[in-house]
Amino acid sequence: MSYKITVNGTSHDVDLPGEVPLLWVLRDELGLTGTKFGCGVAACGACTVQVDGIAQRSCQLPLEAVEGEVTTIEGVGTPDNLAAIQQAWVDNNVAQCGYCQSGQIMQAAALLADIPNPTDQDIDDAMQGNLCRCGTYPKIRAAIHDAAKAMQEA
Ligand code: FES
Ligand code: FES
Repeated sequence: MSYKITVNGTSHDVDLPGEVPLLWVLRDELGLTGTKFGCGVAACGACTVQVDGIAQRSCQLPLEAVEGEVTTIEGVGTPDNLAAIQQAWVDNNVAQCGYCQSGQIMQAAALLADIPNPTDQDIDDAMQGNLCRCGTYPKIRAAIHDAAKAMQEA
């Protein structure tokens, strides 16, 4: 069966079984490998994307259940034109191995869309499901505060 999904503003016809998780559609079918596989059971956040601005775990979201426009890390900015949140990540040297970071950014971007000036508690609440084995949590929190400030000044 064919499904039509819109990813980063581009419409795609995807000819795959409806139960295939969005994660594998993105990575294997569309070549968008910025979204990572971690646990596969919605427990780590590495696969986080946004659907209509809401953070979702793509490893547990079947293709047939995708309703709305998907945004992945590739749709947030480009190397030559970083989004404010990505610039804040760079300025704070957040990434260590980097594996979890696209999911972290997608979750954080959804938070900032919802709460433009989050408190530490807001950040901890929103980010608690995004795990980082390198322990970058303090830098993630600092980067979110910097991004919030930059977005409000823009
Ligand atoms: S791979 Fe989806 S939450 Fe871990
Ligand atoms: S930067 Fe290595 S897992 Fe988060």
